[in-house]
Amino acid sequence: MFKRFGTLLFYAYFGVFFLITLGLSSYFNAFHSTPPQPVPYPHVKHLQAGLQCLDCHQSANKGKYAGLPPLSFCMSCHQSVGTNLPGIKTLTEYWKTKKPVQWNRLHRIPDFVYFSHKRHVTAKTKNYPNGVPCQSCHGQVQNMPYPMRKSRSLSMGFCVGCHRQNNASLDCYTCHK
Ligand code: HEC
Ligand code: HEC
Ligand code: HEC
Ligand code: HEC
Ligand code: HEC
Repeated sequence: MFKRFGTLLFYAYFGVFFLITLGLSSYFNAFHSTPPQPVPYPHVKHLQAGLQCLDCHQSANKGKYAGLPPLSFCMSCHQSVGTNLPGIKTLTEYWKTKKPVQWNRLHRIPDFVYFSHKRHVTAKTKNYPNGVPCQSCHGQVQNMPYPMRKSRSLSMGFCVGCHRQNNASLDCYTCHK
């Protein structure tokens, strides 16, 4: 009896502890996977308007980073498009006051990992004759309303899993230089 009570107490105590940890971690994850952005930029509307990923993330096929477009590019449309929408009013404030929009970064791998967009986006392999699509790592961005979500963890298991399926390098020094 005493023994069982002890077990019960054990589960009750750690059960609550577990729930709190779970609650905190999901709050933490939700908060961190979708940071609020200074302007409520919706990917879906822009892909529907006919823009391509590389129109805005212009260095994804040229270097390590994909990059973000300058405000002047956004204003090439938004000086006339959607000027009554709340998001465009915010955007126009940045433009008028000559302040760059400080987007919060969503995807980030640790400094000890080497990653290059160009290497993937321009790859020519059996499974990816036209490069690894953005969607393989970032999900269905073209359907995403505001805010943009992080749809993959970009963990080591994810990188290595795809490399194994594609005969790409599994050598530790490829990613940890
Ligand atoms: C009209 C310009 C535009 C187009 C087109 C566009 N994006 Fe974006 N993208 C942005 C802006 C602005 C941000 C920063 C705001 C945000 O994160 O929501 C962003 C953020 C992102 C991020 C997150 C960056 C980070 O912080 O980690 C990814 C990934 C991304 N875009 C992928 C894509 C893909 C894939 C496509 C094509 C299906 C695409 N984008 C098309 C403008 C664009
Ligand atoms: C090729 C033209 C074009 C470019 C370039 C463009 N947009 Fe848009 N944007 C649109 C269209 C079209 C809509 C949809 C308007 C509507 O719903 O009536 C839109 C909608 C938006 C909205 C939604 C407004 C709201 O409150 O619903 C935001 C915010 C926005 N754009 C921000 C940006 C940002 C930031 C950039 C630059 C990274 C950008 N746009 C570049 C055409 C463009
Ligand atoms: C093989 C996986 C993979 C593919 C394919 C990929 N990305 Fe990424 N992306 C990542 C990783 C990993 C990061 C975080 C990199 C870091 O922290 O340096 C990232 C970060 C980003 C960022 C934010 C930082 C930056 O580099 O500017 C943007 C924007 C982005 N990706 C857009 C794109 C677009 C657009 C495409 C397709 C043209 C694409 N990505 C294809 C894995 C990928
Ligand atoms: C969806 C599949 C996929 C994912 C996910 C992926 N890769 Fe790759 N990776 C490839 C392919 C395909 C190549 C090109 C192989 C070739 O050109 O022979 C490659 C090449 C590379 C290279 C260059 C290798 C060399 O031999 O020079 C590096 C570095 C790299 N990846 C790092 C990463 C990292 C870090 C991640 C995770 C953040 C990652 N990759 C996720 C498919 C992927
Ligand atoms: C294709 C790319 C890739 C290869 C190959 C790779 N790693 Fe990693 N590794 C990563 C990424 C990405 C992370 C960061 C994961 C994260 O932030 O969750 C990482 C993280 C780590 C960590 C930190 C602990 C952790 O799990 O987060 C260690 C240790 C590590 N790798 C060791 C190795 C060893 C040893 C090898 C060779 C057997 C290797 N890695 C091969 C991409 C790779």
